[in-house]
Amino acid sequence: MVKAVAIITVSDTCFKDHSKDTSGQALAELARKLYPEANIHTLIIPDERELIERELKYYCDSNVDLVLTTGGTGLAHRDVTPEATKAVIQKEVPAITVAMTVESLKKTPMAMLSRSVAGIRDKTLIINFPGSKKAVLECFEVVQPVLSHAMSLLQ
Ligand code: MTE
Repeated sequence: MVKAVAIITVSDTCFKDHSKDTSGQALAELARKLYPEANIHTLIIPDERELIERELKYYCDSNVDLVLTTGGTGLAHRDVTPEATKAVIQKEVPAITVAMTVESLKKTPMAMLSRSVAGIRDKTLIINFPGSKKAVLECFEVVQPVLSHAMSLLQ
């Protein structure tokens, strides 16, 4: 059973003005629908690598089953979510983000510009999503069918 999910929005813009966080809200809504029994934690942080690593570790060490991040996966100088994720995971699960990219490319060539990472730290699955509501909706649809099985393998 999935007991807790954390949604971390990584964005300087949304950190300054929480009302701009449409992708984090969309992810939280999707998680709530899929796991109505679970505690859904949400957090908005700026694009700071050390802070991202610290929050990822915090949620994994708090036995959250699934951490979904949104934002900071692109090419801009401050986009460091994938680097922070790689620093905290013990195993990468590359096919999750490959699948997201393959399906997303059928919708937009811009999908080439996301460097999202997915992986495992202890018993927690972490998946990076791009930082727009549209991208979150498109990518979540791709990973949703494997989420429960993936998490059951970690217990
Ligand atoms: N993936 C999907 N499915 N749909 C999208 O609209 N947008 C792309 C890409 N991935 C997009 C997508 C764009 S425009 C960018 S710049 C990258 O994700 C990185 O976004 P981020 O830096 O906000 O994480």
